[in-house]
Amino acid sequence: MKGIILAGGSGTRLYPLTVATNKHLLSVYDKPVIYYAVAKLVDAGIDQIMIVTNPSHVEDFVRLLGSGKDFISKKTGSQIQIVYTIQNEPHGIAHALYVGSGYIGKDSCIVYLGDNIFEDDITPHIRKFKRGAQVFLKKTRNPERFGVAELGKGGTVLSIEEKPQKPKSQYAVTGLYLYDNTVIEKLKNQTRSARGEYEITGINNRYIEEGALKSVILEKDWFDIGTFDSLLDASLHMRKKKNGRGTAQKLL
Ligand code: DAU
Repeated sequence: MKGIILAGGSGTRLYPLTVATNKHLLSVYDKPVIYYAVAKLVDAGIDQIMIVTNPSHVEDFVRLLGSGKDFISKKTGSQIQIVYTIQNEPHGIAHALYVGSGYIGKDSCIVYLGDNIFEDDITPHIRKFKRGAQVFLKKTRNPERFGVAELGKGGTVLSIEEKPQKPKSQYAVTGLYLYDNTVIEKLKNQTRSARGEYEITGINNRYIEEGALKSVILEKDWFDIGTFDSLLDASLHMRKKKNGRGTAQKLL
């Protein structure tokens, strides 16, 4: 299975932090955001990864990650391989995936939105995955910020709506997707949404129409660092996790 990390976009919700750099190069406690994505995939046994990003920052990613020098594959014990592709304009998540889709070849893929951080272990889901698509849901207090799953009996996903004003559930669709090879064809036949973007939600709804979308509910913490508050929350979480300390420190 190939790994594709999407790390383009314009990051306008984080201005002025992202005027001169890319959202995925900002820090979450002691590491750049993109490290969490690469580490999560590598820990799950993915050792071939493509990063899709914008033209003005691709060199920074190469300087930071190179060919994967900081990451050792669990499977082979050798350095993983990272390659890069450029999305010239931020036309949407599914457009970024389309730009990188040549990398999938005849394989399946795991698509990771680079501004997401997950605490769950995704290894078992990757091992079990065979065909269709799989999304990872998380119950949230502010579902209207995300793609939202409408759930039927037994937790089946009936539909997904992108940032709905009236969410049909509290379950956000997080930025991690498993796709079989038919995603390539689906990416070729997309149309723009009302807000003018090629949406990943559109691709997921195609799988739903085919009765081929499964879902899993995440149990542990999940962050989408796309806002100031969530970026800070993620940093504080990582500090606590690393140092075993709360956030209130006594200065000596
Ligand atoms: O975080 C989960 C949410 O991510 C999902 O619930 C939504 O369904 C999904 O649309 C997405 O919503 P966001 O508003 O958070 O998307 P954002 O524009 O922040 O982009 C998500 C990632 O995709 C980010 O890491 C940058 C990358 N991206 C985005 C665009 C628009 C690209 O690589 N190229 C693009 O053109």
